[in-house]
This record gives sequence, structure tokens and C-alpha cells, in this order.
Amino acid sequence: MTELKDQIDTSRLPCHIAIIMDGNGRWARERGSHRIFGHQSGITAVRETVEGAGELGVKYLTLYAFSKENWCRPQEEIEALMSLMVSTINSETETLIKNNVRLLVIGDMHNLPDYITAKLAEVTAITRNNSGLTLIIALSYGARWEIADAAKRIAEDVVSGKIDKSKINETMFSEYLLTRFVPDPELLIRTSGEYRISNFLLWQIAYTELFFSDTLWPDFRKNHLYEAIIDYQKRERRFGKTSEQINL
Ligand code: IPE
Ligand code: IPE
Ligand code: MG
Repeated sequence: MTELKDQIDTSRLPCHIAIIMDGNGRWARERGSHRIFGHQSGITAVRETVEGAGELGVKYLTLYAFSKENWCRPQEEIEALMSLMVSTINSETETLIKNNVRLLVIGDMHNLPDYITAKLAEVTAITRNNSGLTLIIALSYGARWEIADAAKRIAEDVVSGKIDKSKINETMFSEYLLTRFVPDPELLIRTSGEYRISNFLLWQIAYTELFFSDTLWPDFRKNHLYEAIIDYQKRERRFGKTSEQINL
């Protein structure tokens, strides 16, 4: 039996994969444990996924780690998630550097405690010139907030005369988003059997291929990533055209 990895056509890899890492709480509940144990166990899946994507040669990997809506969770869970974030960044920085990974963060940083933003700023600066995988962590992120904020800043620039309103178009709008340095994802994976987007990258996924996996995030391994990529490679991306036009 061919290894899953060998079934991937590396000449047609998605350049950018985005993942909604969901199911930590249910994974823990299935084991009679606290939700926080599920979050801790999800770190192995993060490590495997980052390593797997990097080894394949994927250029961008965006991981949805904490949504703006997640601020409504119990305070105890929020605090555990924040401290897990810092301890993971601390323990993984060396590996990121060794593997030539560049770290970026997208989200509403104003809501985050200072000790987190300081740590993130430090690691993004250290890894700034790395040329391998770009790992983007979506933290305190919400797509509607991102879009509304872009609209606000465009309005400010029109009022101040920096730009002319006739110049506003899709390309320019994208330049005001947090993802302006990153191409749109070709593949979006959501784990845990939920079929929704939960306010993630709404603008950027206009033509993204969606892959839903029943696997709960802490169980996600390289083979699950390979499965999603293999499925993606079987699809015909038509962007509004007909199949005949694509296969000319
Ligand atoms: C995803 O797992 C992690 C975060 C949203 C931070 P959940 O915590 O949402 O797990 P479930 O959905 O309750 O199983
Ligand atoms: C989405 O998961 C956010 C992250 C994975 C960080 P949620 O578990 O918060 O999503 P909903 O609220 O169930 O849709
Ligand atoms: Mg969830």
C-alpha cells in the first residue's frame, strides 16, 4: 500500500492551507477529562501539522487558535488557553528557528494581555527573515471585525485625501486586511465534524476548497493533513468557468 504522503503531487501543492482547529473540548470529554486537557493535547497536533506542512513545502499555514467569539468562554478556560499559548511559543521557538519557519500573527491584539503580545512580537521579530514555511496564528481573530476595520481605515484614508474613492476595488480592499502579505488559502480544513466557518477569513476564502474532517483536533496527525491535500488535488477548480474551458 502506497504511503499517503507518496500520493501527493508536490508540484500541485496548495500554497496556503488554513485550519480551524476544533474539537479539543469534546476530545477531553470523551476521556472524562477537563476541556483544558483537550487544549493541551492539541499542541501535539499543531506540532505535527506545522512539521508536515513544512516538510511538504507548503508556503503558508494559517491556524485558527482563538476567535474573537472565544473571549465569551469561561474565564478559567481563557486564562488556560493564554498561558498555553505562551508556554507553547516558549517551548517551540527553537524548533521554529531550526526549521526556518517564519511566524506571523493576525487578530485584534488590543484584547490580548501584554505578556502575550510582547512574546509574540519577540518571536515574530526573531523569525522575520526565515524563508521556509510562514506560520500564521489567528489569535483573537474575527473576519467581520477584520473587514469592518479595513473599511474604517479606507474611509479615513479617503477623508484625509490619501486615496481617491474611485480607486477602491477588491485588490485595494485586500491591501487593508491583516492578510495583505499572504495569498488567499487554496484549502481550508475544519476538524471535529462541524460544517461551519465560525467567522474565519471570510473575505479570503471566496474561492477556497473546503475540507471537513470528523477527526477531533488533538487526534489530527500528518496523515490527516495528507488526506486533505490528496482530496484537494482531485478537485477541479473552475473559478466560474466551465470544465471545458479549464481543460482546453
Ligand atoms: C477548539 O476546540 C479550540 C478553541 C476554540 C480554542 P474547542 O475548545 O472549540 O472544542 P469543542 O468544540 O468544545 O470540542
Ligand atoms: C472556532 O472554533 C474557533 C477556533 C477554532 C479557534 P469554535 O469551537 O469556537 O467554533 P464555534 O463557536 O463552535 O462555531
Ligand atoms: Mg469548538
